[in-house]
Amino acid sequence: MSKRNNNIPFDQDNYTHNIDRNNERKLDRRGFMKTLVGAAGVFAVSSLPWGAVAAKELMGLGEKEYPNKKITDVSKIAIGDSVDFKFPGDHDDAILIRLSESKYVAYQNACTHLRCPVFWEKEDGEMICPCHHGKFDVNTGVPTAGPPRRPLPEIQVKVENGTVFAVKVKRYEA
Ligand code: FES
Repeated sequence: MSKRNNNIPFDQDNYTHNIDRNNERKLDRRGFMKTLVGAAGVFAVSSLPWGAVAAKELMGLGEKEYPNKKITDVSKIAIGDSVDFKFPGDHDDAILIRLSESKYVAYQNACTHLRCPVFWEKEDGEMICPCHHGKFDVNTGVPTAGPPRRPLPEIQVKVENGTVFAVKVKRYEA
């Protein structure tokens, strides 16, 4: 018998200890269940609209609108030329291509394979990714050659008073 339990018989000590432990367990379980139910409720309420939004985003079905951003003046981009810009954030590389007098297309130009920059090859009329010979259709952003499988996210543009603006990102639309 250990010296520590000199005043209390070992069995009793063991017995009371067990009772307390059982009660603690019960309380712990109840408390845990309450917390769990509460957390589930909070999660359900808080995630309802955002869950749908997040799912939409993840599935690439969402469109995002940002404040219109000036890309360039019409007078500064000749037909057949391209201009690099950033949209919607300052680190989001994008490219604007003027296909005719009034037709402009723009894409986020990080390649959808491994994010190398995609260029406009004016002479061939193609958008190319030099990293693994990826190619994209300039009218749609859809990959036409190489390893990329997803289209470049298209950026909707508008022309107003001689200025080309980026309006919103359309994600993965073919
Ligand atoms: S990163 Fe563009 S083809 Fe691989």
